Amino acid sequence: MALFFYPLWYDGDMKTLREVIKDAKEKGVAVAHFNVSDSTQLHGVVEVATELALPVIIGVSEGEAKFIGRRFVAAMVKEYQRQGKLVYLNADHTHDLAGIQESIDAGFDAVIIDGAKLPLEENIKLTRDAVALARNSGRDVLVEAELGFIGEGSKIIEAAPTGLEKTNPEVAARFVRETGIDLFAPAVGNIHGVIAGGVNPHIDIPLLKSVVAACDVSLVLHGGSGIPDEDFTQAVQSGIDIIHINTEIRMAYRKGIEAALTADPAEVAPAKYLGKGKEAMKEVVRARMKLFARM
Ligand code: G3H
Ligand code: ZN
Repeated sequence: MALFFYPLWYDGDMKTLREVIKDAKEKGVAVAHFNVSDSTQLHGVVEVATELALPVIIGVSEGEAKFIGRRFVAAMVKEYQRQGKLVYLNADHTHDLAGIQESIDAGFDAVIIDGAKLPLEENIKLTRDAVALARNSGRDVLVEAELGFIGEGSKIIEAAPTGLEKTNPEVAARFVRETGIDLFAPAVGNIHGVIAGGVNPHIDIPLLKSVVAACDVSLVLHGGSGIPDEDFTQAVQSGIDIIHINTEIRMAYRKGIEAALTADPAEVAPAKYLGKGKEAMKEVVRARMKLFARM
């Protein structure tokens, strides 16, 4: 199956992220977006994307960017791009224009301006300003924004977050029209994080279809961890173009490191124990990428 995808999907051309998303839409698949906190995770994600000959988006939230270094992660992604790999960088959940500008200046391919907690008119104003910064950059930097509330933080949670709010399709249509964004992240039952020992809520497919019909932009599904495979398949069939995964790979990375240190408590070589974390994380990345690409 990988051979079937290779010439269609990863043909050696250095496509822009916009072109990659358009290709995905035409093929009826979604592009995977994985958050990373360090270079080990970054290399692990790219190794799997290379093995599967699929494009991939690397995301760093504000906290992750602070830890890894905004310009340092951009330099690593640029090196992968120089090697011809379809690896793109997104400034995930950025709450102010300074962070948007810094990310644009560092060379990110996409930014998310997260004004979801603001009153609608303030969110529209902030988002329009972020779009203006991207358009003034001289590059095709994609801008994403969101409406609704799906909880915060990629972590293990006891129960679904309180105050969840799903996206209203008519409001979404107005928001997309008035802001000029490229990508829209709806709240359609998805939540950030993984509910401990349980299953995350199902995706509201009828609502998702209404949002797709109302908004003439690519849609991004956040909070991918904990979502059952069938829901992903239906979400992609309904029009989702990008899927974000973070908590699941954090959990696998930690589990792999713990297993390595338990097996050899005297081990002090980071390449050894972080390497085990990377291998564990890559299994999750591989499974998710194959599912989203229908491989
Ligand atoms: O932006 C990040 C994602 O929405 C990750 O969500 O940790 O639930 O997979 P997750
Ligand atoms: Zn998110």
